[in-house]
Amino acid sequence: MTAMEESQRGRWGSKVAFIFAAAGSAIGLGNIWRFPMAVGQNGGAVFVLVYLIAVALIGFTVMLAELSIGRRGQKNPVGAIEHIKPRSPWKVIGYLGIFGAVCLLSFYSVVAGWAVGYLVKTASGAFRGEITGQLTDRVFTEFSANPWQVLFYFIIIICITTYVISKGVKGGIERWTKILMPMLFVLIVFLAIRALTLPGAEAGISFYLKPDFSKLNGTVILYALGQAFFSLSLGMGTMLTYGSYIPKSDNLVSSAGWVCFSDTLIAFLAGIIIFPTLFAIPGIEPTAGESLVFKVFPLIFSKIPGGLIFGVLFFLLLTVAALTSTISLLEVPVAYFVDERNWSRKKAAWIVGSLAFILGIPSAFSTGAVPFLTNLNFIGNMNFVFGNLWLAVGSLLICLFVGFVWKVKNAAEEIYSGNPRFKLRPLWSFSVKFLTPIVIILILIFIKDMVS
Ligand code: TRP
Repeated sequence: MTAMEESQRGRWGSKVAFIFAAAGSAIGLGNIWRFPMAVGQNGGAVFVLVYLIAVALIGFTVMLAELSIGRRGQKNPVGAIEHIKPRSPWKVIGYLGIFGAVCLLSFYSVVAGWAVGYLVKTASGAFRGEITGQLTDRVFTEFSANPWQVLFYFIIIICITTYVISKGVKGGIERWTKILMPMLFVLIVFLAIRALTLPGAEAGISFYLKPDFSKLNGTVILYALGQAFFSLSLGMGTMLTYGSYIPKSDNLVSSAGWVCFSDTLIAFLAGIIIFPTLFAIPGIEPTAGESLVFKVFPLIFSKIPGGLIFGVLFFLLLTVAALTSTISLLEVPVAYFVDERNWSRKKAAWIVGSLAFILGIPSAFSTGAVPFLTNLNFIGNMNFVFGNLWLAVGSLLICLFVGFVWKVKNAAEEIYSGNPRFKLRPLWSFSVKFLTPIVIILILIFIKDMVS
C-alpha cells in the first residue's frame, strides 16, 4: 500500500485511542445485560469461572488473530483476507461476518432501545419511593409489550448509529468513547459498593462467586464460550476491521490484553451489582433472562439517596455503551461496501442501517406485542444463533485461517511490528492452531444434545 493510500484510510489518533475504541466496541450490553443473564441461567459462579478461563485462553487468542489479519490486510474482513490470500474461499469468513453483524445489530439495537426507554421512564419518576420486585416486573412487562414504544426507541438507536458511522472513523467513533466510558466505570464501581453493603447481600455473593461444580455441563461451557466471543466483539470481523486502523507501531498484544481486561472487569462488576441486589430484595428470579437487568437495576436505585439521578445517569451511560457497540457492528458491513463496492460512506451507512432496522422488527415485537413472535421467543433465538453459534463458527474459521492458511509465522511477522519480542508466541501459536479450534469443534458437535 502506498503512503498516499495509507493516509487516505482512517487511522486512530493514538494507541490509547484504539484501545478506547476497541474497548468501546467490546463494552456494551454484552457486559451489563447479557453477562448477568447468562450467569443467572447457567448456575451462577461455575459459569463465571468457565467464562474467565474462556476469555483468557480463547478470547484473547481470537482477538490477537483478528487484529493481526486486520492490520496486515488494511481492509474490511473480505478485502483483508483477499489481500492476504488472494482468490481463496476463505473470504467466506468476511461474508459470514458481514451478514452476522447486520443480524446481531438488529436485535442488539432493540435491547439498546429498551435502555433508552428506561432512561425516560426513570427520569419521569416511574421508580420513585420504595419499590419492589413485583413492581419492576410489571413495569418491564408493560413496557416491552407496547409495540410502538419499543419501536420508537429502537429507531432512535438505529438512527444515531447510522448517523455516526456515516461521518467516518475518527470524527465518529473516537469522540464518543473517551469521556463517557470512564464515567460508566466510576458509576458501576459506586453501584457495586452499594450492592455489596445491602442487608442480605451474602446469598447473592455466594451464588455469584462460590462455584457449585455439580452445575457444570456442556451447556454452561457453550454459553460461556459464546458469551466470551460476544462480549469481546469477536468472530464477526469487528476487531479485524478495527485492527485495520491501527498504526504499524502499536503493540497488538498489549492492546488486545487491555481490551480483554477492561471488558471482563466491567462484566464482573455488573454481576457484583446484580446478584447481591437480586437476592437482597425478593421478587425477581436469577433465571429471568432478557428482562433480568431491567428488573433488577431499578431496585438498587431505590436504595440510594438521590437514586433518581443515579438511575438516569446509569441508563444514559448504558445507552452510550450500547451505541459504541452498535457503531462497531455497523462499521463492518459499511467498511465492506466502501472498500470493495466503492459506495459512499453515507449511502452504505443508511442502506445497511435500514436493513438492520427491518430485520429487527420481529425482535422488537417478540416481548409481548405479537403473541406469535413472543411464543417463538424470536429475540432469544436471534441472540442464541447470532450471539453464540455464529461467533463460534466465525472464530473457528479465523483461527484455522491464521494457523494453517496464512500461517502463524506470517501472522507473527505482523505482530512483531510494534512488539519485537512477542514472548507469548509459542502459547498463542498452540492456541490458534489447536486449543481454540478443538474446543469450538467439540462444542459444536455436542450442541444438538444441549439445546432442546
Ligand atoms: N461486544 C459488544 C457488547 O458486549 C457487542 C458487539 C459489538 C459484538 N460488536 C460485536 C458482538 C461483534 C459480537 C461481534 O455489547
